[in-house]
Amino acid sequence: MSQAPTKNAKLIAWVEEVAKLTTPDRIYWCDGSQEEYDRLCQELVDGGTFTRLNPAKRPNSFLARSNPSDVARVEDRTYICSKTKEEAGPTNNWADPAEMRATMNGLFKGCMKGRTMYVIPFSMGPLGSKIAQIGVELSDSAYVAVHMRIMTRMGQKVLDVLGNDDFVPCIHSVGAPLEPGQKDVAWPCNDTKYIVHFPETREIMSFGSGYGGNALLGKKCLALRIASVMARDEGWLAEHMLILGVKNPKGEKAYVAAAFPSACGKTNFAMLIPPKAYKGWEVTTIGDDIAWIKPDANGELRAINPENGLFGVAPGTNEVSNPNALATLKANCIFTNVALTDDGDVWWEGLDGETPKHLIDWTGKDWTPDCGRPAAHANSRFTAPASQVPSIDAAWEDPAGVPISAFIVGGRVSKAFPLVMQSFSWSHGVYLAATMGSEATAAAVGQAAMRRDPFAMLPFCGYNMADYWAHWLNIGRKLPAAPGIFRVNWFRKDENGKFMWPGYGENMRALEWIVGRVKGTAAAVESPYGLVPRYSDLNMEGVDFPKAKYDEIVKVEKDKGLAEAEDQVSHFAKFGDRLPKEMELERQLLVARLERSPAVWTLKD
Ligand code: OXD
Ligand code: MN
Repeated sequence: MSQAPTKNAKLIAWVEEVAKLTTPDRIYWCDGSQEEYDRLCQELVDGGTFTRLNPAKRPNSFLARSNPSDVARVEDRTYICSKTKEEAGPTNNWADPAEMRATMNGLFKGCMKGRTMYVIPFSMGPLGSKIAQIGVELSDSAYVAVHMRIMTRMGQKVLDVLGNDDFVPCIHSVGAPLEPGQKDVAWPCNDTKYIVHFPETREIMSFGSGYGGNALLGKKCLALRIASVMARDEGWLAEHMLILGVKNPKGEKAYVAAAFPSACGKTNFAMLIPPKAYKGWEVTTIGDDIAWIKPDANGELRAINPENGLFGVAPGTNEVSNPNALATLKANCIFTNVALTDDGDVWWEGLDGETPKHLIDWTGKDWTPDCGRPAAHANSRFTAPASQVPSIDAAWEDPAGVPISAFIVGGRVSKAFPLVMQSFSWSHGVYLAATMGSEATAAAVGQAAMRRDPFAMLPFCGYNMADYWAHWLNIGRKLPAAPGIFRVNWFRKDENGKFMWPGYGENMRALEWIVGRVKGTAAAVESPYGLVPRYSDLNMEGVDFPKAKYDEIVKVEKDKGLAEAEDQVSHFAKFGDRLPKEMELERQLLVARLERSPAVWTLKD
């Protein structure tokens, strides 16, 4: 065993114990230095996992191609092993913790043979912040080690802050031991995959996948699934939310946190560039995926981004959807499963400019525009340091966090819900978030076929979702001045199936109203769904969006609303007695408001 650069006895003993079980050829303690990062990246190039991109076009950047079977989070292989199945709740896979431990021990036995075990100490959150948490990931993947240096604060500095304190132990193996003399493959993985969480003992184990949220255990596993349990126990919130700052021309600043399910433009919203008409306004980014939010001594909610980098979806990222992301990706990035251009740069569907005549696709094959296959995988990713985001907020590493004035939630719904609305109360806001989701398909006539993704936490809540709603209700009750809760929908469609709202930077108009509401400067009227702005309450200067069109997306069709409320019955029924009373009462209030409304409720101004 290499010399451990720490005196933390628990850590040293645990590393020894895991090494004894997994039998790596070497143990390497990551120091987090640039020299180490460069060396490991070069080793990944030499081993065929990475291709170095053209340094003239994309300095110090790499492309990785995964095994075609290992391209996304595996939710059906993800387990919450709480003591009882009820603790995990109906939305999580559960397995008995003792049985799962035995299964994982069996899989881990000898699984790192022929490989290096990287010891990766990491901090989720600014080093030394009271809100931060330290974890240590043991992984047999150099791809994971270099990613963890971008995505977290990683290395010796973390061990120095940790001292003899406790940490969250995370074990990861690609599950592909090497026999002596056996040649490695570019992307080792195993058909058997397990992503396992032990919430009571705060442990994470992952086997068989080298990709994203399955393997970078600080992100979804620690910062959401385990942290959500810590947050419940300790009275704070671990959320699948971006955090952004909005400053008006007078210099008044507010921060909001927003939850959207995957593929609803979360990274784009986090880096929004206000339209031309918003002279003097500024939107700044604290984080694009996860927020840890704690009440401070004054009862104000303070949020940090526990991450240090972005792991964003590449396809669809362009100069219209997210110019700040493109600027972020100019150097020092890792791309996974995008296409390679003939001049050694990257490409994906939806990127600006002409489609290249020839590419190497994400599987390593020749690609031409007429070949009938996408060049980049739909879940291809960029990994980039957050410090490179042009809109990064000056306070993004403030250990005290930033004060949150509003929560925004939303999904992808073509009908029924307006562009933006405010909840009537905190519990109505929790209800709006608990019932949010995206349409599974084009809804059948008169039916609101929603795939519910409460708070965008469906795959990430480490305990019973009904208890999680109760936790939100409890937090709100304790705050002297709770933030407003808003629901947005950028995805309303017209009868021809075309999006009605231009979205992207124009979402600033809804954001301005949201901030105005919490500051008490913006007006609203009561619709059956919630408090909505009239056309005149929104700044529509410089956008081609006439009043008639706005009134159309704000109108409430009684039959659609009632169908939606009815669809929520089975959603809530899954939780039985654990469902907080407020949720069903809010649903009934919605039904009552709709029943008193005309067939089509419209704005009257
Ligand atoms: C992500 C996700 O990767 O939410 O961030 O799926
Ligand atoms: Mn996410």
